[in-house]
This record gives sequence, structure tokens and C-alpha cells, in this order.
Amino acid sequence: MSIHSASTASASTNAFLHGVRIAGTGSAVPPQVLSNLDFEKFLDTSDEWIQQRTGIRERRVCDPLTEGTFTLSRDALARALEASKMKASELDLIICATCTGEMGCPSTACRIGGELGAAPAAAFDLVAACSGFVYSLNVAETMIRAGRARSVGVVGCDAMSGLVDYCERTVSILFGDAAGAAVLTRDADPSKGCIYQAMGADGSGWRSLYIPRRPQELQPADRTSGIRLGYLQMDGREVFKFAVSKFREVIEDAMAKTGLAVEDIGQVVCHQSNARIIEAAREKIGFRHDQVYVNIDRYGNSSAGSVGLCLDELVQAGKIPAGKPIIFVAFGGGLTWASSVWKI
Ligand code: ACO
Repeated sequence: MSIHSASTASASTNAFLHGVRIAGTGSAVPPQVLSNLDFEKFLDTSDEWIQQRTGIRERRVCDPLTEGTFTLSRDALARALEASKMKASELDLIICATCTGEMGCPSTACRIGGELGAAPAAAFDLVAACSGFVYSLNVAETMIRAGRARSVGVVGCDAMSGLVDYCERTVSILFGDAAGAAVLTRDADPSKGCIYQAMGADGSGWRSLYIPRRPQELQPADRTSGIRLGYLQMDGREVFKFAVSKFREVIEDAMAKTGLAVEDIGQVVCHQSNARIIEAAREKIGFRHDQVYVNIDRYGNSSAGSVGLCLDELVQAGKIPAGKPIIFVAFGGGLTWASSVWKI
């Protein structure tokens, strides 16, 4: 069984006392741009191949001496708090979705809270790879709805540039570094917030996307492939097959369970894995282009950073339509997937 839960959408009476709203959003990306043309200088690849197969033109990468998951996450949450007109001291909890935290201990969330002045707010990191931001939104929203927390800072961030092997052309061209954040807070209207959420994982597929740290963790098929320890290993074709079917399945499940039709949806805010994966699902389900936000051309795949970054760009551009539900959807390493349908 995976987690599927509807809150208010189809229920005639609402069991929840509290609604939830997104009080503000923020994002952060490093200034340094790594374009496809830059890759041409040191790898056997081309701008044309990368654009055709992935839709990516450029991505952002951290300066390893001064930037990383902690700095991007901290800046994204600081901006979300500013947009919310709230102080860090008003948060009850910080969740940072990441698989690239610099330290095993403390969590990135604790460091963010410490620097922004959130103590004694609880803080933890959540590891669900590319699905991390949507997993975290679901956890935070449920805590607020249940009355266990009033305000929660949610950050998704990955600095994948530190984990990809730039000698290897299939993986390195896909990823970039970014953070996106949202401050969730209690709303007096219980019909506001997440009306349906789903989270799932199939750990039997972990070999498609993993970061081996010790020789004994290298999978037999990868032992002769020249993979270096500490770097992301990906079976691109397997991930592609999983992503194409799961992306569509998760959106269709969310629409079926909420009774929403294609034209009812204001925006699909989705993980940016590959423009072809997004386009295949968009076309099959029948969304218009303007219903599915895409920024992979500018940022590549930023793993847990991508959904929050898309959300912040949409909010900044005034493209979150009032009164129309939005669907967050992500899938990635683990293998994991998640959806979250919101009434804003
Ligand atoms: N430049 C030029 N040629 C390349 C490159 C490159 N950067 N990378 C691979 N190739 C070559 C291969 O060597 C192969 O050559 P060959 O036919 O001579 O053997 C050829 O291109 C085709 O390789 P494929 O792996 O079949 O290429 P494909 O069309 O599948 O595209 C890609 C590869 C882009 C990685 C694709 O499989 C993909 O997007 N997979 C999903 C990966 C993904 O989304 N990962 C993100 C993490 S998880 C997540 O976010 C869900």
C-alpha cells in the first residue's frame, strides 16, 4: 500500500478544523551558468544533442568553496519568509528535502533554523530525492491541518554539481543546483490547502539511481562501467521508462480521486526531469502548454529543488490562478513519487 488521502475535495462535511495556505515562496540559484556549449569544450557532446534529448540549454552550478545546499536552502527560505511577512521565530518546524546536505549531522534544516533564528522550531531533513519537495509539502500540510503545527517552512534543495562526474556525459549534462521554499501556515478556512495527496516508493528499483560510497555497494553491472565512488550512477533508460509512466499515472490518479477534469486545473507544478518526459505526459493527459510549467531549459534537473523553484517563479509571475486547483507532482530516486492537489 502507498499513502493516498483526500481531505476536503469530495467530502460533504469537513472533518478538519484548520485550512492551510502558502503564505509565501522563495528560491535561490547560484549565479554561475554552465551552458551546453561549455560542455562541448570538455565532453564528447553537443548543444543540439542535449537540447533534443532533454530540453536543457543551461543549468546553474555552485562555487564549491562558497556555495552549496546549506547556503541555497537558507537563502530560499529567508526569501519565502520575507514574502510571507513572517519571522523565522514564528515557524514551528523546518523541513529541508535534500540528498546533498553537506553534513551527515547536523541536518541542513537545523543549520538553516540556527542561522535564520528559528529556535526552538523543530527541524529535520527529508530524503526522497527528486520527490522530496512534494513529500515535504504533504508532511507539513498534514501537521498543520491536524493542529500539530501552525507554520512550517518547507525547502527543497539539491546541489547535484557536487555529485555528478563531469567526465561522464550521460549524467552530468542533466543536473543543476537550485533551492525552492514555501512557508505554509494555518488558515481559518478549512477548505483551503491540500485536498488530495499521494506518496509512494518502490525500493526494488533503487539501482536505477544511486550514489555508491563504498566499493561493496557498487552493483555488479556497474563494476566494470568505470563509475567513480561518491558520484551519481544512473540507468537513464530505466529511469526514463519509470518516469514517463509514473508521471502520467500519478497525475491521472490525483484527478480521478478529486473528480477534477483537465480544464479545472490551474497549474501543474512538476519535477523537471527531462522536457520529453513532461511533454509526453502533458500530451497524453491533454493539458494545454500553459497549464504545465517548464523551466528545465534554464536550470536543468535540480532534483529536490525543482518543484519549489517552479512554484516560486509561477508566484513571481502572477501565474497561479486564484480559485483553480494546482497539482504538484514529482518522481525520482528511491524510486519515489508524490502528488499534492491544492486549493489555493
Ligand atoms: N551527448 C551525446 N551523446 C550522448 C550523450 C551526450 N551527453 N549521452 C549519451 N549519449 C549517447 C549514448 O552513448 C548513446 O550512444 P550509442 O547509441 O552510440 O550507444 C546514444 O547517445 C543514446 O543513448 P541513450 O542513453 O539511449 O539516450 P536517451 O535518448 O535515452 O537519452 C537520457 C539519455 C537523456 C539520459 C535519457 O535516458 C533520460 O532523460 N533519462 C531519464 C533520466 C532522468 O530523468 N534522470 C533524472 C534523475 S531522476 C528523475 O529526476 C526522475
